[in-house]
Amino acid sequence: MIDEMTTVLEPSPLPDFVETEYIKDITKRALSYIKAGFPVHFRGPSGTGKTTLAMHLASKIKRPVVMIHGDEEFTTSDLVGGEYGYRIRKVVDRFISRVLKTEEDMVKRWVDNRLTVACKYGFTMIYDEFTRSRPEANNILLSILQEKMMDLPVGRGGEEPYLRVDPDFTAIFTSNPEEYAGVHRSQDALRDRMITMDLDHFDYDTELAVTRAKSKLSKPDVEMIVNVVRGLRESGKCEFAPTIRGCIMIAKTLKVQNMTPSHSEGFLKMFQDILASETSRVGSKTNQDRVKEIVRELVAKELGIGKTIDVGKKAAESAAAIETVDSKKEKKESESLAGVSG
Ligand SMILES: Nc1ncnc2c1ncn2[C@@H]1O[C@H](COP(=O)(O)OP(=O)(O)OP(=O)(O)O)[C@@H](O)[C@H]1O
Ligand SMILES: [Mg+2]
Repeated sequence: MIDEMTTVLEPSPLPDFVETEYIKDITKRALSYIKAGFPVHFRGPSGTGKTTLAMHLASKIKRPVVMIHGDEEFTTSDLVGGEYGYRIRKVVDRFISRVLKTEEDMVKRWVDNRLTVACKYGFTMIYDEFTRSRPEANNILLSILQEKMMDLPVGRGGEEPYLRVDPDFTAIFTSNPEEYAGVHRSQDALRDRMITMDLDHFDYDTELAVTRAKSKLSKPDVEMIVNVVRGLRESGKCEFAPTIRGCIMIAKTLKVQNMTPSHSEGFLKMFQDILASETSRVGSKTNQDRVKEIVRELVAKELGIGKTIDVGKKAAESAAAIETVDSKKEKKESESLAGVSG
């Protein structure tokens, strides 16, 4: 029992959590699905707040939480439980006190894993990035979500070969889209048993509020950062769109260095380092140079007139200009990239 309990988290509000209209709306809808008895699944690109939202939702449900992270190496027993280790017994001879015998008996001990614990006690389970586990490891979830029954392996003992899932049990899932590296296709049957909410990058107000909360930077400085990152994202010219993590990294770096936005080379380089690294998987030079050039233009524009009105359009123009210069080279590169990811 104590072993089981060590993996359980207390539901508590997250530090620095920001609740904008956008977040409130998603939370409200998700809670209504859960109330109706359906598991909720947040699906979306990296940095769209899925894990944070799942934890926020769990804190609203107010039941203890168990968290599972999807893993390629997972088997069903990593979720359900298994026979782990064996017991060691010390035997003291009462008649000759100097005799101390250690006996190892080979009785294996069954230990329930997190999914079984959550089903048994009616806890909230967050299964983060569940499509990183192989589909067959997740099959156990089919009957849990539909029949509210959990099949138990014979080794566990007990009178019944199955466990009745506690009515308070709630499941929240998150996943990245299928084109991400290391992600399996989710089974149709499993997806069919949950309500999937597709998330996209945050709206402007939320991106601003989250970056401010995380960095404690002034509003105009945060606005400047968010404008540049959103401009780069909307340009559509990155291998990976920059996420809110880029905004947070830049803002925190500015804060610790006690820097303010300026025309200095150091300020621009910091933007370029962070955004070029965040948006590229293989680090190809052409991609990085292109991103750096767009960032240079966006930063210059922000510093020049203070507030950007048509950042997306400007970024698209500058990207188009760059594209015509090295379009041939670029085409080759994207072909080879497609080869890698396919
Ligand atoms: N409502 C919020 N309030 C405060 N911070 C937030 C909020 N939503 C997201 N964040 C922050 O934004 C960042 C990205 O969020 P999160 O990790 O939840 O994204 P994700 O979609 O799970 O990304 P990934 O797919 O890469 O796991 C984190 O640093 C997180 O702390
Ligand atoms: Mg996540």
